[in-house]
Amino acid sequence: MGLSVIILAAGQGTRMRSSLPKVLHPIAAKPMLQHVIETSQSLNADSIYVVYGHGGDTVKTAMSDFPVKWVEQKEQLGTGHAVDQVSEYLNDEDDVLILYGDVPLIHHDTLFELLSIKDASGVGLLTNIMVDPTGYGRIVRNGDNKVTGIVEQKDASEEQLAITEINTGIMAANAKDMKNWLSRLSDDNAQKEFYLTDIIGFASSDGRDIVTAMPNDSSEVEGVNNRSQLAQLERTYQLTRAKELLEGGVTLIDPQRFDIRGKITVAPDVTIDVNVIIEGEVVIETGAYIGANTILKDCTIGANSEIKANSIIDSAKVGSSCTVGPFARLRPGTELKNDAHIGNFVEVKKSVLGSGSKANHLAYIGDAEIGEKVNVGAGTITCNYDGVNKHKTIIGDNAFIGSDTQLVAPVTIGKNATIGAGSTISKDVSDDVLCISRVKQKEIADWKRPVKKK
Ligand code: UD1
Ligand code: CA
Repeated sequence: MGLSVIILAAGQGTRMRSSLPKVLHPIAAKPMLQHVIETSQSLNADSIYVVYGHGGDTVKTAMSDFPVKWVEQKEQLGTGHAVDQVSEYLNDEDDVLILYGDVPLIHHDTLFELLSIKDASGVGLLTNIMVDPTGYGRIVRNGDNKVTGIVEQKDASEEQLAITEINTGIMAANAKDMKNWLSRLSDDNAQKEFYLTDIIGFASSDGRDIVTAMPNDSSEVEGVNNRSQLAQLERTYQLTRAKELLEGGVTLIDPQRFDIRGKITVAPDVTIDVNVIIEGEVVIETGAYIGANTILKDCTIGANSEIKANSIIDSAKVGSSCTVGPFARLRPGTELKNDAHIGNFVEVKKSVLGSGSKANHLAYIGDAEIGEKVNVGAGTITCNYDGVNKHKTIIGDNAFIGSDTQLVAPVTIGKNATIGAGSTISKDVSDDVLCISRVKQKEIADWKRPVKKK
């Protein structure tokens, strides 16, 4: 007996006022639909069907990395009609779980619980208690407190409208039964739609056991119809991630001003100041400090390193006990060995900085291999690009590069070499020498400043 998940995603999402299909709007930089697909995968679903309608090609392209089966619902005739589009593909022995592409935060644990309490021939229904149940389908129970049906807002009696237990729309049943119940649906109701919810009435009259579960948090079953709800769920998601980090021993100066758009692995005793954004996969080792307004993307920050405010680190590796920033930019392929220092307004691209080496002020280091204990002076530029090709700069251990030096690559600076400030170095420099290439200073004693013509 396997599990098939059906994700409904055919709705137009008019209230988003967007040319992007609703289910592709992101929570934590990831399409809502992707959240639901990944949660389905975490349940080890054998098949995941996505029922699509509007913007089908855009949605398929965006989700092309995922092994989902696409089923078109040409006309949106209701949730029951949507699920029925998949009927012909379902194995009778499978369990079927219904999820929604615009209900992104549904959690693995809640669904796992729902599937495990469901009787083999019964129905599992996820419900919730709402202070204001307006708009939702209401859960109707008999004198024995057994669920007998769901009634939609527009079809409900005065008495039923007072029910505060609502249908989240998430349910699970055996595929054979589900197909049978779907085939019996009619659109004879206030909205002239084929309601998925009517299968609960059929299950009850067929004498099946309908069990209910509730989510751990209401946000799990909240749907997104407009950008305001999207923003709210984004905040909920971020606060949940932040709390996990706090519990793991990370100090977040303000958990409300912290955003993860990817995965983060953080050792205890890391401090993260306000407005830090995490993208892709980031690893931060113990004792590290991440300053305010910093963006960390696909990078590793070593133990006890300090990233000062307003730095951007992208696809780079920072060793332990390094300092970076403020206002530093480490671009893809950068590696700082332990105790390296990168200061303000320094850009590093595809370069290795050896242990104990420093570039503390205003520099561009691209395609360079820099040894240990090198000092790169203020204003140093590796001229790595000749307009067509990129070239390498190699600097030996202990070299001292004076301020305002241009290193015209390809070029190698020897170990222990000293480059005089203001030099343009276009030929290799030997070990242990002083090399200066600037014009000799001279004085012109009788020179007169120009005066303004009258
Ligand atoms: C539905 C439930 C209601 C429940 C509520 C929870 C029914 C009849 N009612 O109502 O009991 O309280 O959800 O939010 O199921 N969709 C399709 N194709 C369609 C119609 C809908 O794919 O033909 C998708 C929509 O994109 C959406 C979801 O199904 O993601 C729910 O549809 P919607 O019309 O919003 O359902 P409600 O009327 O809110
Ligand atoms: Ca509707």
